[in-house]
Amino acid sequence: MNRDFIAKHWYASIYEQMENQTYDVEFLLRVLGPKPINILEIGCGGGRIAVPLAEAGHFVTGLDADEYALLRCYRQARNLPNLRCGQANVIQDEWATGYDAVVIAGNFLINIESNVDYRLAQQTLIQKAAGALLPGGHLYLDFDLSPNPSAVFNEIGESSYFSGTDDLGTFGKTVSYGSVYDPVTQICAGAEHWEITTNSGDSFFVPDKWYKHIPTQREVYGWLGEAGFSIERTYLNYTDEPLTEPIAPETWRATIWAQKG
Ligand SMILES: C[S@@+](CC[C@H](N)C(=O)[O-])C[C@H]1O[C@@H](n2cnc3c(N)ncnc32)[C@H](O)[C@@H]1O
Repeated sequence: MNRDFIAKHWYASIYEQMENQTYDVEFLLRVLGPKPINILEIGCGGGRIAVPLAEAGHFVTGLDADEYALLRCYRQARNLPNLRCGQANVIQDEWATGYDAVVIAGNFLINIESNVDYRLAQQTLIQKAAGALLPGGHLYLDFDLSPNPSAVFNEIGESSYFSGTDDLGTFGKTVSYGSVYDPVTQICAGAEHWEITTNSGDSFFVPDKWYKHIPTQREVYGWLGEAGFSIERTYLNYTDEPLTEPIAPETWRATIWAQKG
């Protein structure tokens, strides 16, 4: 069997098995309200968010680069005529327009894969969201935000965040060896591998190195302003408390509801 296929199929499946805390989806549904609207979800993956939005009656288009994740979304769209998904590199490719809301959730802001400078990719994402919205439309942006990224991202030692078996009988485990945060560049880099064993007993490793830019509240607010958004509401750690400026010590998650001017 093709090891690349086996490994990527396993990851897409295990992500959805393990990333199943639904409070972020319930929170989003509450912020959007009951009236069905036209939504573009960026980085929809296997549909963890897009599917419940469509089940709630919204008209949802999901874009993602990963065909293994997308296939999971595509299968579920068979029973949901108001859900469509397609493949795109959302930093490089054009987005469709005319949406009431753009959803950039599931921490996509710090999980972008692209060849573009990371900070520029984050800024581009917000500009493209403005371009995809109707006048008066809204951006829902939900991401990890901490007043002290060094404490969150400087981590040495072995750990595992996902393990389990997919529907092909492939067992896998992610093994991380830590990450380092540079407070000057705000870049965090880490090393990990996946340990994969197929159902016929073939075992192999998939090495991975990742890096991401960790934006500050001020940067994100600046990008939103430059793109013509006005922030209508903010939410601290999935509560009705707004974010403070500067952010409070207990902040770990920021959710922003911003309107295109
Ligand atoms: C952390 S997952 C979030 C998935 C989904 N929103 C959720 O919350 O379950 C990030 C997703 O972004 C996708 N992604 C990363 N960079 C991308 C890019 N440049 N263009 C399109 N999709 C991208 C990945 O394939 C992955 O499915």
